[in-house]
Amino acid sequence: MTMPNYVKIVEVGPRDGLQNEKGMVPTEVKVALINQLTDAGFVNIEAASFVSPKWVPQMADGAEVMARIQRRPGTLYSALTPNMKGFEGAIAAGADEVVIFGAASEAFSQKNINCSIAESIARFEPVAAAAKEKGVRLRASISCALGCPYQGEVSVHAVVDVVRRMRELGCDEIDIADTIGVGTPGRVQEVMRAAAAEFALDRLSGHFHDTYGQALSNILASLEVGISIFHASVAGLGGCPYAKGATGNVATEDVLYMLHGMGIHTGIDLEAVVRTGDYISQAIGRANSSRVGRALLTKWAAASDAAPACI
Ligand code: HMG
Ligand code: MG
Repeated sequence: MTMPNYVKIVEVGPRDGLQNEKGMVPTEVKVALINQLTDAGFVNIEAASFVSPKWVPQMADGAEVMARIQRRPGTLYSALTPNMKGFEGAIAAGADEVVIFGAASEAFSQKNINCSIAESIARFEPVAAAAKEKGVRLRASISCALGCPYQGEVSVHAVVDVVRRMRELGCDEIDIADTIGVGTPGRVQEVMRAAAAEFALDRLSGHFHDTYGQALSNILASLEVGISIFHASVAGLGGCPYAKGATGNVATEDVLYMLHGMGIHTGIDLEAVVRTGDYISQAIGRANSSRVGRALLTKWAAASDAAPACI
């Protein structure tokens, strides 16, 4: 299998990255974050969630965020939609892509969306049909594809079963998500190959949280089996409110540095993303979790200290 020469990065920082923040992040900060990411060249940004505000209060201002961002033609702004209520909110807000999110683990499905896997598919059916009718792109995310915080081991068979159900709903893209970052490269390749037996390889993506420090290795392992879409979060922001202890997604800056270093194109300006990572980390008072971000910011600061002062 040859490595892809172009990789699509789905920037999930504004949604997955911020949803778990305890203090409310002001709407204008979310809007500024998305605008900066747009300017950096992303073709797909996960911008909001239309979920119950009682479950995830941080995402309650999704409609306002979507109304205020400056959209760039060619960039898709996605929103999470667990049911028809969420779908209607996302469409009214002008989402270009709706994301149904299920799990390969029954226990996580109950904790995250308050229903069994089978019930979740039944809820997604009208969402999928409505997305098709409106001509809106439909993506599905499958949580706990490499392990579950409640039930532990998740079989490859369980993942494949949900992939098949999502395919039957007509999904355009399916995310294999390591919600708690426990996967290692061999198992990731096994899961990706099994998923690719059921769904087009070029429309499968890897969504890796970096809790155990395996995310970059898992991306490389996925590239080796031909996966060419990855999710990442600027400054490594994030965590899932229903997966305690899980840290953020792999940092976008780190993924870009690796891919560009391998000669793989993304169309994204790494330096602009590093500046965005610095902006959002400072705006929400968090340490920047991107190794590449920290390294480049330190290097730039040293270079500007060394520059002769202007008189
Ligand atoms: P429920 O309580 O079973 O739903 O929650 P319900 O239909 O019985 O409704 C209860 C209340 O919620 C009602 O309001 C509804 O109107 C309201 P009330 O009458 O009590 O005032 N409601 C909604 N409000 C706004 N938007 C909606 C909506 N739906 C119902 N769409 C539900 C079921 C799915 C809604 C709930 O469990 C929920 O919102 N869960 C959110 C889960 C979530 O957002 N998790 C984080 C994102 S997933 C993730 O991070 C994983 C991912 O990154 C991949 C990975 O890493 O694994 C994608
Ligand atoms: Mg996630």
